[in-house]
Amino acid sequence: MHNREQISHDEYQKTADWLMCKTKHRPQVAIVCGSGLGMLADTLKCQDSFAYSDIPGFPQSTVQGHAGRLVFGDLKGKSCVCMQGRFHMYEGHSLIKTTFPIRVFKLMGVETLIVTNAAGSLADGLKPGDIMLIKDHINVPGLVGLNPLCGPNDDKFGPRFPAMSGCYDKGLRCLAMELAKQLDITGLVQEGVYAMVGGPNFETIAEARLLHRLGVDAVGMSTAPEVLVATHCGLRVFGLSLITNKVVKSYEDTESVNHEGVLEVGRLRSQTVQQLVTELIGRMEINNNDNTNNVA
Ligand code: HPA
Repeated sequence: MHNREQISHDEYQKTADWLMCKTKHRPQVAIVCGSGLGMLADTLKCQDSFAYSDIPGFPQSTVQGHAGRLVFGDLKGKSCVCMQGRFHMYEGHSLIKTTFPIRVFKLMGVETLIVTNAAGSLADGLKPGDIMLIKDHINVPGLVGLNPLCGPNDDKFGPRFPAMSGCYDKGLRCLAMELAKQLDITGLVQEGVYAMVGGPNFETIAEARLLHRLGVDAVGMSTAPEVLVATHCGLRVFGLSLITNKVVKSYEDTESVNHEGVLEVGRLRSQTVQQLVTELIGRMEINNNDNTNNVA
C-alpha cells in the first residue's frame, strides 16, 4: 500500500520558518503528550503557544482529551516544544500528516524527541497506573505497509532504508530508571515492548492474545509513526506508556475498557509522569550542534 499524499521539503521548511518567525524559542527537545498527559505543557516557562488551526500546514486534532496546541517554553534549563494533542491514524489523517510536526521540529533544531502515550497492558506484571519505558515496538500497521516512510524517500531527511534497532535510546532509558529511583517510584516503572494498532476500536480478545504471544507488553494506537519518522531524520527518541487499563484476554472476564477510564488514569498519574519527564529533560545531555535549516 502506498501513501498517495506527499509533502515536499519546502512545505516542512515553510512551517518551520513560520514558527521561527513567531517565537524566539529554538527547541532542543520536543515532547508529544499522550491522552490525559498534556499538562506537562502548562509547566513550561516563558511560553509561546499556537493553536494547530493557526499553524500553516498543520493537521487538526479531533480527539477529546487532546487540546491541539503547540507550546514552546523552557523546562529545567532546556528549550522545549510540547505537542498538546497528537494526530492519530484512526482520525483519518494520512501517516505522513500525523508525523508532519516531527520533521518541522527537526528543521527547527530539535535533537531529542520524547513520546508519551496511554496504553493497555498485556503483561501480567503491568498494572493500571504503572509507567512502561518503551524498549522497542511492533508497528502492526507497518507490517502491512502502512508506514509514513512509504513513498519516495526524501534523502535530505534520512536514508531510504533506515535501521530501527535501537530506535529507543538506551542511555535515556537508563537515565529514566535512575531518576525513578531518586523519585522513589521504582515500583511503578519498568521497561517493555509497545505495539501500535490502528484503532479506533479496542482489541478483541483473540487480537489481545495474539499480541501477548508476540511478546507485546502494552498496546496503544499511536507513537510508532512518530518514532519512525524521528529515527529516520536522526532524532534521539525516548518513549513511555502510561498504563491506563488491563487489556481483556479472557472470555471469562466481564470488564471492558472505555476512553473515559483511560483519560481518568491519565489524569490521576499525570503528575508522576510529568515529574519523571521533567527530571529526565533536566538531566539529559544535549548535543548543542545547531541543525536549524541544515538537515543533511
Ligand atoms: N488498547 C489500545 N489502545 C489503548 C488501550 C488499549 O487497551 N488503552 C489505551 N489506549
